Amino acid sequence: MATYHEQFSVSVLGMGSMGSAIARVFLKHGWRTTIWNRTTSKTVPLVELGASAASSAAECIAASKLIILLLTDTEAFQHVAKGLEPSSCRGRVLLDYMTATASQVSETQRTAREILGFDAYVHGAIMTMPPFVEDPTAMIFYSGDNKAYTEEDQTDGAAGMASAVKLIGKAIWIDDDPASSALQDVMVLTHWYTFASGFLQTAALLKKTKQFKPHSKSMQRFWADFVRPFYDALFMQFEDVARQIDEEDYVSRGDGALINLHLHAIESLIKAYEDKNISVALLTPMRDLFAKAVTNGHGDEEIGGILPLL
Ligand SMILES: NC(=O)c1ccc[n+]([C@@H]2O[C@H](COP(=O)([O-])OP(=O)(O)OC[C@H]3O[C@@H](n4cnc5c(N)ncnc54)[C@H](OP(=O)(O)O)[C@@H]3O)[C@@H](O)[C@H]2O)c1
Repeated sequence: MATYHEQFSVSVLGMGSMGSAIARVFLKHGWRTTIWNRTTSKTVPLVELGASAASSAAECIAASKLIILLLTDTEAFQHVAKGLEPSSCRGRVLLDYMTATASQVSETQRTAREILGFDAYVHGAIMTMPPFVEDPTAMIFYSGDNKAYTEEDQTDGAAGMASAVKLIGKAIWIDDDPASSALQDVMVLTHWYTFASGFLQTAALLKKTKQFKPHSKSMQRFWADFVRPFYDALFMQFEDVARQIDEEDYVSRGDGALINLHLHAIESLIKAYEDKNISVALLTPMRDLFAKAVTNGHGDEEIGGILPLL
């Protein structure tokens, strides 16, 4: 059984890119950091920074009260869990940062609590990449055992999760269902892909215009001068769409574009891309939804009227 004194301690399972980035943060703040990785060579750079490399996952867990999980996924954890005994997990809290679906989070929680005997389980969804860990823009959503999440540092020197999460990024509590942070992750991350599809679609067209000259920052200028201000305006427009969704009332008050108009607009965009022999695969699913809404009699609603079709 480890003792917790002298300085805060934490154990990190998985020294891939995110696990290493997070272990580095703890080391920078002077925490006693124990690490474990299946491929032992990946622990070397962290050991050079002061981490202790455990020879097994069980030894890594035994070294601290707070255990951070950063393997690839639930399957990897289940594999590692087969080699663990409750004797090394009892009295410890597990902070699982692995990206997962809601059902995978529930499975990891069940294994951690019911089979391995961890005292508490919290899931964290990291909304950034390893180089931006610790950056104030790095949001991390948390859910699960709120008592463990808010636990302050102990008088015996054991770190509470509260002081650990503050080091990693902007900590945002969701609720006590561990799967909630995973769903929050999905909801926020979806915007990355919808944003990226608009970005890539327009880049494909820009490259076919006279505006585009290779190696002359054409796309960067197009982004800064036109797309960015357009998004600023879009955020304001979507505040009202958010209100409509909250109120479940998509009928236009006369100030927003109607689905009928959106259908016409997106058909015209699709034609413009087809004229330039650019794929419209990213646009047609949206066009099809607008068309279906019109067929179902929702053409006079604003864009929130699409929601019942999803
Ligand atoms: N990187 C990001 O930008 C980012 C952002 C947010 C969330 N995340 C999440 O953070 C988690 C880790 O991501 P990462 O980028 O660090 O991944 P990574 O670089 O691919 O590292 C994966 C880690 O999992 C270990 N692993 C995989 N299968 C295993 C098994 N069967 N048994 C034991 N260990 C196993 C690997 O060990 P070996 O070295 O031995 O292969 C390695 O330590 C993922 O769930 C990811 O979705 C990552």
